[in-house]
Amino acid sequence: MSILSLARFQFAMTTVYHFFFVPFTIGTAFIVAIMESMYVHTKNESYKKMAKFWGNIFLLSFAVGVVTGIIQEFQFGMNWSDYSRFMGDIFGAPLALEALLSFFIESTFIGLWVFTWNKVKPGLHAFFIWMTSFGSLTSALWILTANSFMQHPVGYAIRGGRAVMVNFSALLKNPQLWFEFGHVILNAIMMGGVIFAGLTAFQLLKKRSISNEARIIYKKTMRLSLWMSLIFAIFGLVLGDMQMQYLVKEQPMKFAATEDVYTTTGNHAPWTIVGIANTKEHKVQDNIDIPYVLSILSYHKTTGAVTGMNELNAQYKKKYGKNIDYYPPVNTLFYSFRIMCAISAWIILVSFVGLIMSRKKSGYLYKHKWTLWVLALTTFLPFIGNTAGWFVTEFGRVPWTVYGLFTIQQSVSPNVSVASLLTSNIVYFVLFTALAITLIGLIVRELRKDPTQVIEPKFKKVLDPFDKEAF
Ligand code: HEM
Repeated sequence: MSILSLARFQFAMTTVYHFFFVPFTIGTAFIVAIMESMYVHTKNESYKKMAKFWGNIFLLSFAVGVVTGIIQEFQFGMNWSDYSRFMGDIFGAPLALEALLSFFIESTFIGLWVFTWNKVKPGLHAFFIWMTSFGSLTSALWILTANSFMQHPVGYAIRGGRAVMVNFSALLKNPQLWFEFGHVILNAIMMGGVIFAGLTAFQLLKKRSISNEARIIYKKTMRLSLWMSLIFAIFGLVLGDMQMQYLVKEQPMKFAATEDVYTTTGNHAPWTIVGIANTKEHKVQDNIDIPYVLSILSYHKTTGAVTGMNELNAQYKKKYGKNIDYYPPVNTLFYSFRIMCAISAWIILVSFVGLIMSRKKSGYLYKHKWTLWVLALTTFLPFIGNTAGWFVTEFGRVPWTVYGLFTIQQSVSPNVSVASLLTSNIVYFVLFTALAITLIGLIVRELRKDPTQVIEPKFKKVLDPFDKEAF
């Protein structure tokens, strides 16, 4: 095992794990904010109980997300010091804004939200959760600003072998940022809907005797969540498609790899549904193709050639140097992309059919266990979809850490050892597994509570040593 592969494995492991919680938190905060706003608008107590009950699930994911995020940042200094030296001037501003502004907003308003139920006017209380949601959205914006620079560097100059920021607004206007941000946020809210619908399905499957009031709460949650997952999955798909068009122009190598295109196609590009990339001989085998479809996907018309990886590799060798190959891991990209898109289609289908089946007149969804099981099991799919999405984005920029400027090979710390990396990998793995088990345990415990009787955080009366002026 090399230092580089261990450092990469560690970053991938921590990122994938961290990103289980990021969209979970963003999506659930947004939906809880809608629930509470419905209460403010309708004065219907069910919505208030919904917001409190599901709000507890959001709080749990927030807490774990923070811990995993901190571990992420340690690694820049530990394993990627040369990368940090190169990118420090660019990364510094967005990361500082994230910590000082967004995290500050998020944590302040979370505190206000948790401790002021029934103490401030309902409208003000709902404002607190909207501000929490706003904080989490801007937090994602700053992190993705840094990430987008790696995909598409803008607003910089190279001085003394380092990237120096010369135009901060160019970083914010980076088109890559707005595609990434839009796609991540829309899918995060979709994920919130899928999680709440799925957990509701688990509740209905499990609980034999549910009070009428609790049933109303679950049914309202189900409808709202399915609407959210349907609407935001469709928006997410539309944005994903726009992102794909952008890749065709800006990162053609990544695009060609997601579609298994080694040799430049003719004017009517066929689309490979399945195939195996022979990465040694640089060709595709056992493939099933559909004529015209790749041109349609790439340019929204039946004509248009797609440049193949072999031609792009030759171009990049001329431009950036001959001593490395510029092919990304093709099979990973090809199948990750298909998994992500299939999950999107499945969620749209399930949400749409779920909404029809859960209408008051039919109620089919609640009368049959299999329908509830389908929703319950769908809960896990957005986690896989997000991981597949990041695989496309990040494996697709191989061999670069910063596209066209700095390679992965150049980025790793010169003085980190295999032993220290192995140890930290094992420690993180054990820590993450323990955190995941704790979180699942806490969510299950929270779900056992009756949503009609959600306990408000109250301070117990404890003996105060300063009472009666004893001290
Ligand atoms: C048919 C639907 C979808 C399409 C066409 C699509 C398209 C894309 C594309 C082209 C990328 C790579 C962007 C880049 O490298 O710059 C991407 C990344 C990503 N996708 Fe999707 N996607 C779809 C559905 C989904 C779903 C359902 C999820 C979540 C469950 C998801 C989550 C992500 C994430 C987290 C990323 C990485 C961040 C980013 O670059 O935006 N995608 N998607």
